[in-house]
Amino acid sequence: TEDTNVIGFNNAVFAWSKDAEDGTQTPSARSFRLRVDGKLMFQRNALNLIIGPTGSGKTSVLMALLGEMHFMPTSIDAWYNLPREGGVAYAAQESWVQNETIRENILFGAPYDEERYNKVVHQCALARDLELFTAGDKTEVGEKGLTLSGGQKARVTLARAIYSSAEIILLDDVLAALDVHTSKWIVKECLQGDLVRGRTILLVTHNVALASPIADYIVSVGLDGIAREVQDLSVFLAKNKKLAREL
Ligand code: GTP
Ligand code: MG
Repeated sequence: TEDTNVIGFNNAVFAWSKDAEDGTQTPSARSFRLRVDGKLMFQRNALNLIIGPTGSGKTSVLMALLGEMHFMPTSIDAWYNLPREGGVAYAAQESWVQNETIRENILFGAPYDEERYNKVVHQCALARDLELFTAGDKTEVGEKGLTLSGGQKARVTLARAIYSSAEIILLDDVLAALDVHTSKWIVKECLQGDLVRGRTILLVTHNVALASPIADYIVSVGLDGIAREVQDLSVFLAKNKKLAREL
């Protein structure tokens, strides 16, 4: 509550279902709770990673920030805010395209700026794909058009977020569908590129080896649904050998 510039949580608890909220229901898979242990302060103008095994609650962290989860009233001290003034772009784990051209899918209603657009295409490793399509970026995709691969859809979803002018960018596992070479390209060209300068990125990823060297802040979520700040990644991985293998 103090600093409006802070995005984060302080000992907060979130639930997906209302049932889990009052605590009267027996615990079940549907009553998952995300617990934040201590302070999580995602850094502005920086790259923040959210790591953890599958099903632990990484997507839930983003959803809690987006106000999509029930905030548990039991948690007293929990500030979190996602300033909307500069805009928030959210690339969902399930990437998607609309039934229109690839270009329209990337612009997503924003005006076409050729230089910015070409940079986005390059940084998101889409240039070669577009060259191979007969109509280039005017190719229609979706139900009546070309079916994109999972990796192509993921990169279009990423490109949409990067092209947007949003100051805060939530990227849920955008590297997951990509091969090592393409993931490396995106980490280097896009996540360290000029278009993300001055913006705040929250990246959920399993690819800790690739992304952690450029991360400014790391949060781990455990299978117990507890999210905490990772202060020293090598110490953390040494203590969590099982997790280190899963990552
Ligand atoms: P991966 O994407 O597989 O790596 O998992 P994750 O770490 O992103 O986990 P996620 O946050 O998606 O899930 C954590 C828990 O929340 C799981 O028990 C899910 O079943 C539950 N959950 C996720 N999304 C929803 C939802 O929309 N509704 C409800 N009720 N539960 C959800
Ligand atoms: Mg997820």
